[in-house]
Amino acid sequence: MARHITSDSSMQKDTHDGDAQGYKGHSMLAPFTAGWQIDEKPLVIAKSEGSYVYDTNGKKYLDSLAGLWCTALGGSEPRLVDAAAKQLSTLPFYHSFWNSSTKPTLDLAKELLEMFTATKMEKVFFTNSGSETNDTQVKLVWYYNNALGRPNKKKFIARLNSYHGSTVMSASLSGLPPMHQNFDLPAPFVLHTDCPHYWRYHLPGETEEDFSTRLANNLEELILKQGPETIAAFIAEPVIGAGGVIPPPATYFDKIQAIVKKYDILFIADEVICAFGRLGAMFGCDKYNIKPDLVSIAKALTSGYIPIGAVLVCPEVADVIYSESNKLGSFNHGFTTSGHPVSCAVALETLKIYKERNIVEQVKNLSPKFQDGIRAFSDSPIIGEIRGTGLMIATEFTENKSPTDLFPPEWGVGAYFGAQCEKLGMIVRVVLDLIIMSPPLIMTPTEVDELISKYGKALKATEERVKELKAKQT
Ligand SMILES: Cc1ncc(COP(=O)(O)O)c(C=O)c1O
Repeated sequence: MARHITSDSSMQKDTHDGDAQGYKGHSMLAPFTAGWQIDEKPLVIAKSEGSYVYDTNGKKYLDSLAGLWCTALGGSEPRLVDAAAKQLSTLPFYHSFWNSSTKPTLDLAKELLEMFTATKMEKVFFTNSGSETNDTQVKLVWYYNNALGRPNKKKFIARLNSYHGSTVMSASLSGLPPMHQNFDLPAPFVLHTDCPHYWRYHLPGETEEDFSTRLANNLEELILKQGPETIAAFIAEPVIGAGGVIPPPATYFDKIQAIVKKYDILFIADEVICAFGRLGAMFGCDKYNIKPDLVSIAKALTSGYIPIGAVLVCPEVADVIYSESNKLGSFNHGFTTSGHPVSCAVALETLKIYKERNIVEQVKNLSPKFQDGIRAFSDSPIIGEIRGTGLMIATEFTENKSPTDLFPPEWGVGAYFGAQCEKLGMIVRVVLDLIIMSPPLIMTPTEVDELISKYGKALKATEERVKELKAKQT
């Protein structure tokens, strides 16, 4: 019955059971579907309103995914639309190359530097996505070590099951084998260390603290084996998101940071999904006492309304890069639309709303209802683990409460659950037999009740389905 464990997000099967909506056989290659496969029944979303989206047939869905960890403020915040319209009618575009910039770009950089308080940050480099942000991190770190005369200090350590994006560099950093297969990745300068998933990987009798100690020791061993003089940076999501919503075990980041610091290795916090309140803290770094040298942000920075990403750079790294680029005449990296004034204007308004509405308190108040409501189903015979924090949660379907007794893949347990949710009017993310939910941060308590009720109904139907499949098997 058991099958090999994988946190395979790129092999995700779409679960849409709605009408083909006239899009059957459409020519788009959807990301994160099974390979070069055309999804014959795409769910085509036409409209959004608060925590809900509507498909082209007018069917309403509670979006328990916030459009892939993005729409923190829901799908119809007029102030963001106004901010974009105002900027579009004043200055729709100007670039930020060389010595140029725009006012919203500069204002946003200043605002972000003030908002991030886990450590002092000095500079912001704007990009257009999370992947570009992590690509930029790699180049910044290499440039920094070249400037310091350390040409061999170039390797990166990331974690298995992490997700950092899908460009060549960011996919290399990601610890998901399907992101690498047939793409000739990961690049040789990227190493992967343990995934900190206690339930799945702890040894018999090992406490969370002991597990964290073992992982920190393994990291140190890897560094020593490679030679500390070759390791440039360590990258981690405060909570692993796309790889299965994996919060760090107790004392994990304290121990990991101590090792990283000991060997003069930069710490990159990939806050692409954790930043801006999702965990009940403004940044994941605040929640887990992470003191990074570099930070990646994107997604909820504009509530997903318009593309943007950014790297926050600490003074020590910024100063080295600044003096080196002065020597060379330029820092030769950037994108035409880096710091796009419309994206920055929307981001500024988004951050203003987060502050005005005290989004962190809102998440803190709502998340116990959300977490407890879903965790109440933990006793289900088909659920192995429910885990999460703040407004993100994962349900893993396994047998016997065991991390290794997986259902036969051909049963499609997760996909069945996803299809039931969709029928009931709720969107969840299905990654094989793992279900991810990360609702808009503005979700109301009544909407959380609806989410829990739909989850419960979908679970009951899935339990019945598994019973039937088991009966057929015997
Ligand atoms: C932690 C993390 N980093 C980076 C990325 C890549 O971001 P993008 O899809 O905007 O390139 C993602 C996307 O989900 C992410 O979750």
